[in-house]
Amino acid sequence: MDFKVTPSKLRDAVVTVPGDKSISHRALMLGSIAEGRTDVRGFLNGADCLATANAMRALGVNIEHPSATEVVIEGVGLHGLQAPAGDLDLGNSGTAMRLMAGLLAGQEFSTTLKGDESLNGRPMGRIITPLTNMGAAIDSDCDGTPPLQIAGGLQLRGIHYEMPVASAQVKSAVLLAGLYADGETSVTEPAVTRDHTERMLRSMGGTVTLSSGTVTLTGGRVLRGGPVEVPGDLSSATFIILGTLLSQHADILIKNVGVNPTRCGLIEILRGMGADIRLEAPRLWGDEPVADIRARSSVLTGGPVDPRLVSLAIDEFPALFVAAGAASGVTTFSGLEELRVKESDRIAAMATGLRRLGIQVDESRDGAVVHGGRFGGGEVDSFHDHRVAMSLAMAGTIANEEVIIRGVDNVDTSFPGFHNCVAGIGADVQVV
Ligand code: S3P
Repeated sequence: MDFKVTPSKLRDAVVTVPGDKSISHRALMLGSIAEGRTDVRGFLNGADCLATANAMRALGVNIEHPSATEVVIEGVGLHGLQAPAGDLDLGNSGTAMRLMAGLLAGQEFSTTLKGDESLNGRPMGRIITPLTNMGAAIDSDCDGTPPLQIAGGLQLRGIHYEMPVASAQVKSAVLLAGLYADGETSVTEPAVTRDHTERMLRSMGGTVTLSSGTVTLTGGRVLRGGPVEVPGDLSSATFIILGTLLSQHADILIKNVGVNPTRCGLIEILRGMGADIRLEAPRLWGDEPVADIRARSSVLTGGPVDPRLVSLAIDEFPALFVAAGAASGVTTFSGLEELRVKESDRIAAMATGLRRLGIQVDESRDGAVVHGGRFGGGEVDSFHDHRVAMSLAMAGTIANEEVIIRGVDNVDTSFPGFHNCVAGIGADVQVV
């Protein structure tokens, strides 16, 4: 599938975006090992979370999906998972693979985790190292990539782990394994990363504390299921915000978006470039902060982007590259080496795409310098990366000619219905 994008203007609108991917994954995993029932509303009905749901079903958990956004999980308790009949296929989802590895490292039975071509090329050494220190035995391909064979029947021990990379997936894998470990497990992160695992564990009765960059969990505590209301995904709202800022006279309100401070780097970076973005009606949904986000068309100016904000905006750089291309002046990104091991090498993918559309990008090992300019038309590749595809689609709305984005099937992993959503607010994006 490709997107055909024709230059178009967004109009004033009130919209919602699908549920948060990170929180939907965690609701499935933690709800499965909790006691009792977990009712999830606002679930992200996208391919990544459906892969996690199927994996949990294969592990013996009864999961109903009465409507697209509702999921009911009959928790089996900490020790109630059962050996699956075959390998667990986690599709395109790094979050599913890394968190499941943590969850499965301390089980009585062995499992094999595999993924699609992109996931099978992504680094897993970052979770294998700490999980092995805890007493797990995990085999991977020789370069540390999936499939992962996780041995069962090993008793884990709590460790203190100093994470070399800022990664919520690694932190979460260690904490999930820590549920099955003797004593305390703690993780120190080099920079703040999303804390949805910690918040949900706490809301389900887990013992999790945070003190100056170190999160500590006590193993063996019973979790209790309950209602989980998933906010809209800020990482999906990003594309609507981007389109609105770039359009000429648009004012768009995105309702019920998760604004957990560990996710809000995008807003800070864009405001620094001159964006008019406001958070309205801030409130809590369970343990997660939520607000309505109002974005208005803005004149953006480039500049250096603070690398300390990278971990708070880790998934938003493809969109930020487009914002930088539309801004006046030069925008300098650094500290982005993690982008090279996402669903695609996102620095290379965005540099290639923007250059094709006439924007000058000087790529470096850990970032890029983007020279603001005028977007032209043309044909670009998404590299099968959902966020690259959606970012380039929004760029297409301000190009001076039609833009074709090749290979957009994976948009469904995080934002099912993306093209209908943006078409509903005036962006001329068609699936061809
Ligand atoms: C995620 C963590 C981030 C992010 C990913 C979702 C999570 O990955 O890029 O889309 O749900 O924990 P890293 O932990 O690899 O940075």
